[in-house]
Amino acid sequence: MVTIDTERLSDRLPREALLDRVMGPERFLKPSQLLRDGRAPKLAIVARDGREIVGTVRLWEVDAGGRPALLLGPLAVAPERQGEGIGSRLMRSALNRATALGHGAVILVGDAPYYTRFGFSADLTADLAMPAKVDPARFLAVELREGALAGAAGAVTVDVEMVRGIAAPMTGEAWRVAA
Ligand SMILES: CC(C)(COP(=O)(O)OP(=O)(O)OC[C@H]1O[C@@H](n2cnc3c(N)ncnc32)[C@H](O)[C@@H]1OP(=O)(O)O)[C@@H](O)C(=O)NCCC(=O)NCCS
Repeated sequence: MVTIDTERLSDRLPREALLDRVMGPERFLKPSQLLRDGRAPKLAIVARDGREIVGTVRLWEVDAGGRPALLLGPLAVAPERQGEGIGSRLMRSALNRATALGHGAVILVGDAPYYTRFGFSADLTADLAMPAKVDPARFLAVELREGALAGAAGAVTVDVEMVRGIAAPMTGEAWRVAA
C-alpha cells in the first residue's frame, strides 16, 4: 500500500536514486535548481510502498516578484509506478500542506497538461521571471489564497530573510495522508 509521508533523513539516498532514475543528471541543470542549490526545502514529501520510496515532491520558499511563494519541484514517480495516481496524491498533499501552513501561492516549471488539473496556470506568472530562461507555457502558478500573487512582478529569487527562517522540514509530526 502506498502512503504519503513526510520525508525523513533516511529517505535522502533513495530519493536521490529515484530522481537519478527518473530524470537523470540533467535535473541539476534546470533553472529551478538555481533557486534550490544549497538550501533545505520547506516541505518534503515522499510516497512509500513498504520500505521503498516510489515518489517524491519538494517545495522551496522563494520571493516571486515581491510576493512570498513556494517553488514546487522536483516531482517524480518511479517509472514502473507511474499512472497509478501517486503523482496526484503527492500534488494534493503538497498543496494541502502548503495551505495548512499558510502559504499563499505555489509556482513551478513543468508540463501544463499535467499541472492544470491541480489549478496551475501560466496566467499568474506572466509578469514573473525565473533566474534562467524558461518556456512561458511551462511557467505555472496556483494561488492557495485568492490574490496572493496579485501585483507579483519581476524576478523569482531567494529572499535572504526567508532562507534564514527555514526550519528543518524533516522533523516533527509524521504526516500520513489517506488521500
Ligand atoms: C509526471 C509524473 C510525476 C506523474 O506522476 P503519475 O503518478 O504518473 O501521475 P498520476 O498517476 O497521478 O496521473 C496520471 C495522469 O497524468 C498524465 N500525465 C503524466 N505525465 C504527464 C505529463 N508530463 N504531461 C501531461 N500529462 C501527464 C497521465 O497521462 C495520466 O492522465 P489520465 O489521468 O488522464 O489518465 C510522473 O509521470 C513522472 O515522474 N514523470 C517523469 C518526471 C517528470 O516529468 N516530472 C515533472 C513533471 S513536469
